[in-house]
Amino acid sequence: MTDTWDTIADWYAELLRAGSALNEFNRDVLLDRLPSRLSGHRVLDLGCGEGIISRALAARGASVVGVDPTPRLIEHARAAGAAGPGTVVYTVDDGCTLATVADDSVDWVTAGLSLNHVPDLDAALKAVGRVLTARGSLVLSVPHPCFEAPHATWAQAADGATRRVVGDYLAEGFWRSDQPQAVRRVGNHHRTTSTYVTALLRHGFALESLTEPTPTAEVVARQPQRAGLPPFLLIRARACER
Ligand SMILES: C[S@@+](CC[C@H](N)C(=O)[O-])C[C@H]1O[C@@H](n2cnc3c(N)ncnc32)[C@H](O)[C@@H]1O
Repeated sequence: MTDTWDTIADWYAELLRAGSALNEFNRDVLLDRLPSRLSGHRVLDLGCGEGIISRALAARGASVVGVDPTPRLIEHARAAGAAGPGTVVYTVDDGCTLATVADDSVDWVTAGLSLNHVPDLDAALKAVGRVLTARGSLVLSVPHPCFEAPHATWAQAADGATRRVVGDYLAEGFWRSDQPQAVRRVGNHHRTTSTYVTALLRHGFALESLTEPTPTAEVVARQPQRAGLPPFLLIRARACER
């Protein structure tokens, strides 16, 4: 059977519920790009999955709308709830259209590890620009395009160290990991760093920050080979032109 987000939804929700150092690190570095207090802020969490980022945004006081096209993940997100003081409403929706989200209705859009699952980046950025208020910002993270390129593997070097081996950085397009425990066995869309940046500029966003975070001690304790490599690329970009 070929895995899809529908078939791995329960597995992914359980992975995060059990505590995934990498996903928690992603959530934390993404939230570091937003104000520490979000009371009065409206946030759209695009590709919210089982809600790890939406819940953290609500904990900062935001009014959050979490959207995801995978109904089973939305069920998990609703079941997990949110502790407040903010609120979260979850909706099944596609990041390429955001059909359930009104124009000019949110101050922030977060997209944690989701835009690499969106088939049409231009459509998604157009939709994000439409729903953001003037001067609202998008904060996105994707698996680092350089080190998480298609079919990147680990290999032992002559000095005994485990090194990342990457060969297909420039091979943009859909690919599927052959690792049975990899999230990207569902397939995802590889794009280079410059593709993300130029697409944002083309859609009228201004770059506010670009971050390649150092893995935390928790991440390195579980996956020592990740020391010295940023697992994610984060970009914060402000909507400027309409
Ligand atoms: C790696 S998960 C990340 C989920 C969550 N943001 C997190 O940090 O755990 C990728 C998510 O992208 C969602 N996704 C797939 N296609 C999408 C689309 N067209 N629009 C929005 N989200 C999509 C999947 O359903 C999944 O929840």
